[in-house]
Amino acid sequence: MQIDPKDYDSARIYQLMTSVIVPRPIAWVSTLSKDGVPNLAPFSYFSGITSQPPLVSIAAGRRRGARKDTTNNASSTGELVINIVTEAQLENMVRTSGEYPPELDEIELVGVTPLPSIKVKAPRIAEAPIQLECRTRQILEISPGIVDLIIAEIVLVHVADGIPVSDNLFIPTESFQPVARLGGQRYATLGSIRDIERPR
Ligand SMILES: Cc1cc2nc3c(=O)[nH]c(=O)nc-3n(C[C@H](O)[C@H](O)[C@H](O)COP(=O)(O)O)c2cc1C
Repeated sequence: MQIDPKDYDSARIYQLMTSVIVPRPIAWVSTLSKDGVPNLAPFSYFSGITSQPPLVSIAAGRRRGARKDTTNNASSTGELVINIVTEAQLENMVRTSGEYPPELDEIELVGVTPLPSIKVKAPRIAEAPIQLECRTRQILEISPGIVDLIIAEIVLVHVADGIPVSDNLFIPTESFQPVARLGGQRYATLGSIRDIERPR
């Protein structure tokens, strides 16, 4: 079977892409509105772009043409925190993806613990073993009226006590047990890990 995206509607292409581009890391993004209302929402069209400088991207779809709260906040305050999700927070993370009004604080809704950040004003989430404080670099309207691409620079990384960090900053994945998103409503936990040396 061959599937040509131009023969299908965007809902099907979304299903197709999110089924085959797997497993995807989940950015659980905490922000503050310009009036100081906290917001927390997950995004799995999330990727590291480059390490020099340390940039990540998050593609945030619009809702009936309107920017999501995360995009508005990352734009108006210029800041966001990406919290890494573990299995213990899977249900809470999914709950924060509901379509809530901007006045609703999802951190309070699901009862996770906000901690002050150091370089940004947006809070980080204590239950996440790794938190990336970020500053917004650019917001590109990559699909006009439909999707905004948030490009952000990591300015500080918090690693929970007990997670080993080697001198070269390698962190073994099994020490923090991240969850990943698959197609539909499916999630994956860490499977078996293999080490393979690269050729010189
Ligand atoms: C695991 C997961 C991943 C998600 N990934 C994305 C994504 O990459 N882009 C997006 O626009 N919405 C994504 N969503 C939906 C948003 O979380 C949802 O629209 C949320 O309400 C946005 O919140 P906000 O308006 O407070 O920013 C995802 C939802 C879940 C549960």
